[in-house]
Amino acid sequence: MTATPTVYVTRKIPEAGLARLRDRYEVVVRDEKLPPSKAHIERRLADLDADGLVCLLSDTIDADVLDASSDLSVVSTFSVGYDHIDLEAAIERDVAVGHTPGVLTETTADLAWALLMTCARRTVEGHAYVEADEWETWGPTLLTGPDVHGATLGIIGLGNIGTATARRAAGFEMAVRYSGRSRKPDREAELAEVGVDATYVDREELLAESDFVSLHVPLVESTEELIGASELRQMPDDSILVNTSRGGVVDTDALDTALEEGWIARAGLDVTDPEPLPGDHPLLRHAPSRLVVTPHIGSASIGTRDRMAEMVAACTEAGIEGEPLPHSARQDAGL
Ligand code: GLV
Repeated sequence: MTATPTVYVTRKIPEAGLARLRDRYEVVVRDEKLPPSKAHIERRLADLDADGLVCLLSDTIDADVLDASSDLSVVSTFSVGYDHIDLEAAIERDVAVGHTPGVLTETTADLAWALLMTCARRTVEGHAYVEADEWETWGPTLLTGPDVHGATLGIIGLGNIGTATARRAAGFEMAVRYSGRSRKPDREAELAEVGVDATYVDREELLAESDFVSLHVPLVESTEELIGASELRQMPDDSILVNTSRGGVVDTDALDTALEEGWIARAGLDVTDPEPLPGDHPLLRHAPSRLVVTPHIGSASIGTRDRMAEMVAACTEAGIEGEPLPHSARQDAGL
């Protein structure tokens, strides 16, 4: 009789996925709040002779981890992003890599809008003002900000989440510009159907003309610090930057200077570099008047997180059974 395959889960994901995995496999869940070290993951995989690994975006999965158990056939990450996984090393070792694309598109676009709106209309700052007991009277210029309706939204990276973010601009009658490696007529057509006229422009033009710039590129070598000092200087001084992609896409020191010197008006970040952002990080001196930060919660709706857990379980099952993954990072990366 062959032994039941074992799956190691680096942190507790929603029960929807765990229950499905437990139906078929030995499932060992590390029930801790903080991420394990790489050495810890390696040790556990080796001790368990694990066949499957379920990880989070905060786990580094490199060649050492992939070599820790010779039985390992699949790594499934509870995220759409897989920049924390050495995909080439996984391919070399014939370890399948699953992820959770699509399901979190709309939820993350909702958060991009939450940040955009709160930076424009200064809601976090307003809350802090009330809580500090500073609200003495209605004020003609109290906490004024730019209009969102009728403004220009610049989307850098018109992929799934970028398109979903752009689609929401229809209700605000905004002009939409986008930039990226190439023009995307299919996306433009999809947006035109809901009344959004998305115009492809080069990045310089987008930065110079947008009231709001929202980042939707994956973190790869070519997008590291894509937004640095020179890009921030190209943005109008009353513009707002929103990042729900990856912290490394923005040069944190340059953003700090931009906020300090007023090159842009405000920034809303769900992702940071470093991440997590320590509570005493210098960038936070700009909050809440010029900066709003949320702790990487783009996909954090209850329904989406449950569906992500189910997708991770489905990928793990397929990998262990030697079937094609329903959501393969390798395939989605075009490798
Ligand atoms: C979140 O950032 C994800 O990649 O799922």
